[in-house]
Amino acid sequence: MKIAPSILSANFAELGKEIKDVENGGADYIHIDVMDGHFVPNITMGPMVVKAVRPLTDLPLDVHLMIEDPDQYIEAFADAGADYITVHVEAAAHLHRTIQLIKSKGVKAGVVLNPATPAEWVQPILQDIDMVLLMTVNPGFGGQSFIPSVVPKIKQIRSWADEVNPNLEIEVDGGINTETAAVCAEAGADVFVAGSAIYNKSDRRAAIQELRKSLSN
Ligand code: DX5
Ligand code: ZN
Repeated sequence: MKIAPSILSANFAELGKEIKDVENGGADYIHIDVMDGHFVPNITMGPMVVKAVRPLTDLPLDVHLMIEDPDQYIEAFADAGADYITVHVEAAAHLHRTIQLIKSKGVKAGVVLNPATPAEWVQPILQDIDMVLLMTVNPGFGGQSFIPSVVPKIKQIRSWADEVNPNLEIEVDGGINTETAAVCAEAGADVFVAGSAIYNKSDRRAAIQELRKSLSN
């Protein structure tokens, strides 16, 4: 079970400190939300920020691309130091090509599904990827409410993965707190992104510990 704090909810004026804080607090990955103002109605950060963050932490950088035409930017994010790059199935017209491109850069590859996108969209490629990221909110902003209808999709993808790719990581993102994380863990998720549930608390170590505890109940 892995906890991936999303720096989207961090204080950007003190990003280095904010990253050290969750690393020291027991985080497993650092989740970086890249938004282009087209695929989602918000603009956040690009490869420059990934490059700036890279030397600050030993944790894997989990880069979630919420952008149109992801192929155009994969090399830049790989060179900047991403350990995982995940692309939205809704934005990648030639998904196998995109996944091969990510892997050719020595980066772990993942596919993201919006809440209303059927699990079947990722099924044909499950054996080729390292991670499926299931959005449990519509992407664009932190602090939104968890959409429970995604839970059956976690179960479905975990049961397909058991057959073709038992090491597949299933990550959930959006509205994750101690209650919703437990529901997702029960359904088969193993990586938990949390933005506001960690960064809106002053004691990040306690927030991470509480999340982890909720997963083992
Ligand atoms: C939403 C982003 C999330 C966001 C989650 O578009 O992909 O990673 O930071 O924030 P919370 O945990 O506050 O829902
Ligand atoms: Zn995200």
